[in-house]
Amino acid sequence: MASITSFIRWAGGKSWLVPYVSQLIQGLDYNNYYEPFMGGASIFFSLDIPHNGYLSDLNAELVDAFCEVRDNPQQIIEHLKEYKTDEKSYYAVRATEPTDKHQKAARFLYLNATSFNGIYRVNKNGKYNVPYGKKEVTLNCQRILDVGVKLNGINITCQDFAAIQPNLVAGDLVFLDPPYTVSKEDTGFVGYNSTWFSLDDQRRLAQLIDHINNIGAYYIMTNAAHPTITDIFAGKGRMITLERNSLIGGKKSFRGRVQEYIFTNIPERRDV
Ligand SMILES: C[S@@+](CC[C@H](N)C(=O)[O-])C[C@H]1O[C@@H](n2cnc3c(N)ncnc32)[C@H](O)[C@@H]1O
Repeated sequence: MASITSFIRWAGGKSWLVPYVSQLIQGLDYNNYYEPFMGGASIFFSLDIPHNGYLSDLNAELVDAFCEVRDNPQQIIEHLKEYKTDEKSYYAVRATEPTDKHQKAARFLYLNATSFNGIYRVNKNGKYNVPYGKKEVTLNCQRILDVGVKLNGINITCQDFAAIQPNLVAGDLVFLDPPYTVSKEDTGFVGYNSTWFSLDDQRRLAQLIDHINNIGAYYIMTNAAHPTITDIFAGKGRMITLERNSLIGGKKSFRGRVQEYIFTNIPERRDV
């Protein structure tokens, strides 16, 4: 099915990486496709996968919304049509706690479209606490239908990334995009948020990559450009440094050049 862009805004979204990945896998004869740090699944949406697709993430609200868009897009649209996108309406919708699964997904997509930068953040009681995005937006219902078609037949699961391991077989392609924090300074890196994705998690990820290499599957991983990452993933594939412009968050947001690493075991030159 045709390439589309992701339908949600997500921290660390990889739409900027789409041209690079598409070049990297050009002519690659791969089997099933796995994206176990799905987020907005920018890479998945850009691909025309040849066999089965498996998307997963630890964020249950995100996963539930994806499942609803796949299974019941029309019901979500009916709810979205009831929402206005001005500031007062935003806070009113944010304060609701729907139990109906269609309405929950609609609220998730609404908050993603209208909140500040589409950030997903909850307080210690699990309540979404991101402020209004300061501009009214038009909710694109046709897009939800298009995404629903693209997700048709795709397996979408809420789970830790390592849970994909037993199902992988030779020739599968795994795109790995773990969370990493970036610095407000120009180094592009401060450290890992231990409650989010720790260095131990990075080491578990390295073990998954060992397994992928051992069974003859393919992987592409993005990660922070930092010596700690080089150490953890050394010898597991070739490392490519990419540099791009990025808006760095924080009080004094600014545009800067940011480096990121790509690791992959896909050979550099192939007959296509
Ligand atoms: C950088 S984002 C992925 C962005 C995505 N590639 C995109 O284009 O939007 C990382 C994702 O990993 C998820 N995550 C964090 N820890 C995880 C874990 N242990 N297992 C699976 N997913 C996890 C987060 O919820 C987040 O959605």
